[in-house]
Amino acid sequence: MLSTAFALFCFLLAADCLETHVHGDLFVPDAILRISAQNISIGGIQRYTTLVNGSVPGPELRVSEGKVVWIRVYNDMTDRNTTMHWHGLAQAASPFSDGTPLASQWPIPPQHFFDYELQIPNDTAGTYFYHSHVGFQSVSASGSLIVEDRSNPPYKYDDERTITLQELFNLTDVDVEQRITADPLLWFGENNGFLVNGKTISDYGVIDNSTATLAVIEVDPGKTYRLRFIAATALSYTSFAFESHDGLEVIEADGHYTKPLSTDLMQMGSGQRFSVLLKTKSCDELEQSGRLDYYLQVETRERSAVATNYALLRYRDTCNLPESSVHHLPTDSYPSKKPIDLPPTISGFLDYQLQPLVPNNFPTTSQVTRRIVLNVQQFEDGYYVWRDSNVSWSDASIDSRRYTTPATPYLVSLYTNQTAYLPKYDAAIANGGVDPTTQTFPAKLGEVLEIVLQNIGSISKTNVTPGLLETHPWHAHGGHYYDLGGGPGAWSSEAMEARLQGTLPVLRDTTMLFRYNEATQPDVKSGWRAWRLRVQNPGVWMIHCHWLQHMIQGMQTVWVFGDAGDILKVPRREVEGFLTFGGDVYGNGTHVPERVHFSEGG
Ligand SMILES: *[C@@H]1O[C@H](CO)[C@@H](O)[C@H](O)[C@H]1NC(C)=O
Ligand SMILES: *[C@@H]1O[C@H](CO)[C@@H](O)[C@H](O)[C@H]1NC(C)=O
Ligand SMILES: *[C@@H]1O[C@H](CO)[C@@H](O)[C@H](O)[C@H]1NC(C)=O
Ligand SMILES: *[C@@H]1O[C@H](CO)[C@@H](O)[C@H](O)[C@H]1NC(C)=O
Ligand SMILES: *[C@@H]1O[C@H](CO)[C@@H](O)[C@H](O)[C@H]1NC(C)=O
Ligand SMILES: *[C@@H]1O[C@H](CO)[C@@H](O)[C@H](O)[C@H]1NC(C)=O
Ligand SMILES: *[C@@H]1O[C@H](CO)[C@@H](O)[C@H](O)[C@H]1NC(C)=O
Ligand SMILES: *[C@@H]1O[C@H](CO)[C@@H](O)[C@H](O)[C@H]1NC(C)=O
Ligand SMILES: *[C@@H]1O[C@H](CO)[C@@H](O)[C@H](O)[C@H]1NC(C)=O
Repeated sequence: MLSTAFALFCFLLAADCLETHVHGDLFVPDAILRISAQNISIGGIQRYTTLVNGSVPGPELRVSEGKVVWIRVYNDMTDRNTTMHWHGLAQAASPFSDGTPLASQWPIPPQHFFDYELQIPNDTAGTYFYHSHVGFQSVSASGSLIVEDRSNPPYKYDDERTITLQELFNLTDVDVEQRITADPLLWFGENNGFLVNGKTISDYGVIDNSTATLAVIEVDPGKTYRLRFIAATALSYTSFAFESHDGLEVIEADGHYTKPLSTDLMQMGSGQRFSVLLKTKSCDELEQSGRLDYYLQVETRERSAVATNYALLRYRDTCNLPESSVHHLPTDSYPSKKPIDLPPTISGFLDYQLQPLVPNNFPTTSQVTRRIVLNVQQFEDGYYVWRDSNVSWSDASIDSRRYTTPATPYLVSLYTNQTAYLPKYDAAIANGGVDPTTQTFPAKLGEVLEIVLQNIGSISKTNVTPGLLETHPWHAHGGHYYDLGGGPGAWSSEAMEARLQGTLPVLRDTTMLFRYNEATQPDVKSGWRAWRLRVQNPGVWMIHCHWLQHMIQGMQTVWVFGDAGDILKVPRREVEGFLTFGGDVYGNGTHVPERVHFSEGG
């Protein structure tokens, strides 16, 4: 049997022909990820958790700019679906590869695998991560994804370290999912600590001291390191800093280089990535301080409890300092006194300060073609949901009265012309941007959208939490947006334009909607953030809060960029296998899929 068949598709309307081919049993992917659910010992406790290749975090993937990369993802679980999302990378040319269940694809059934085709465009070098997009799985099922520079990076550094932050919850994924969607809600608790590169000491119930240890980040003296911070967290905003290492220089935010910006501490919400340059101490400085170890202190912000966790920045003694003059810190316990006094939340952290390293084609106010305001609000009636302009979207059909859950993924519906799931543009325009039937947000290629995220005090039918506000990291799939910053109170064009004066917005994919106050009155606007977005990449893309609990509670929206003609570049006969749950492109133990390549180079 031929493993590869070539086909040439020519479109009447397209000047060029799209050449695709199909792979079969002899195909060797560039990387393999295996998703399982197991009991593991982590931070000293046992947790039944979702893993990538058996570890937390999963293995780091490194890919090159300008390449097409194939990643085969096995769902080795027996009872749960999964998908994989490539957070920050726009799957513009291979829309089935974005990893969003019931939006861009059917989930991967248990005991099946799926080949993700990733386009890594030029000028995307930077720090990303991959994670499951199903339920609470990505609390642990994630890993770093580094896009390496094609040529020398614009900043000089001797070496680099990836520092991934995650959270440890002692409840299982399914427990968390069931509790937060229960009617009435069952409290699921705050985290049991932050994990740094998979390590921590749980604040509760340590039974296995062998895994209750601090992560160690090894460095050499007198060097410059690029630290790649990835917030693969679940629910908690974090603030962190290194003991006696001030003046971190931010050089990258969400996959785009920035002009250098000095900061002594970092704050990050789930889904955000930053690179900073860290200059390590000299041999003389180490000898003077008498220490080879320094704490990285990580703390919760914006939650009802504060977890404080640590890792160690450890110097290798390349200076041959006399043993009596330097010492190490323990890795199996925490300091008795906090070494750093981290301040309260800095609302608007780095806003209006970050600047792009190279011009980024920022759209002016007059270029904006349409504005959409997303009213972000919690609704409580025993159960809790989050609504974005009255839309609560979930890929798990928990309760159709609470959530919109399509019966088939929108991208599949586009191919099969299931009109019940195809957004109507005019109806959406007449309804503040959201199509009332499908609850999706359609946009035409070439539009320049201004998207305003507006925090609003919660509605509480049983009067337990009226006027509640929270802080949310908002993430967009399918392309980066120009981040216009934010402010307190109600959004207004005047307030926004005043703040923008003299600034150069950067391209981001995850930025914070702050609350500025812990509570207000129901329906009162309190805190906003705004973006501009050039609608360029056809496909079905999600825009959502990245707190996992909030996602499960409906804080997700689906956007459809372009019309069917823009999106369906590959003819239906080539994609039949994508159109049914467990269809032909989903491989299993006895079935090797034949999979069309949306682009050449695979
Ligand atoms: C994940 O595990 C599989 C099988 O154990 C292995 O073939 C693959 O190389 C691993 N992936 C990475 C990125 O290390
Ligand atoms: C995981 O551990 C729990 C508690 O010890 C146990 O009840 C459960 O059977 C274990 N599950 C698996 C799949 O080993
Ligand atoms: C990326 O840039 C390299 C070097 O300029 C060029 O050879 C290559 O064709 C580009 N790739 C893409 C996908 O644009
Ligand atoms: C897996 O996904 C399919 C299709 O959306 C759904 O019908 C099924 O209930 C899901 N299975 C589980 C265990 O969630
Ligand atoms: C989980 O941790 C919380 C403290 O954060 C504790 O109250 C609870 O009993 C723990 N649950 C289990 C099952 O260990
Ligand atoms: C774990 O370490 C702590 C602190 O060193 C100690 O008090 C405790 O007895 C140890 N527990 C076990 C199970 O070894
Ligand atoms: C939600 O819909 C109701 C009824 O149409 C409307 O009164 C209310 O203003 C909407 N809420 C938000 C936050 O958009
Ligand atoms: C899609 O279905 C609608 C009615 O359900 C029909 O009017 C339309 O022609 C169909 N479009 C295509 C491209 O088949
Ligand atoms: C494996 O995939 C083939 C083709 O999609 C399907 O016919 C078969 O039922 C699948 N086997 C299992 C065990 O799911």
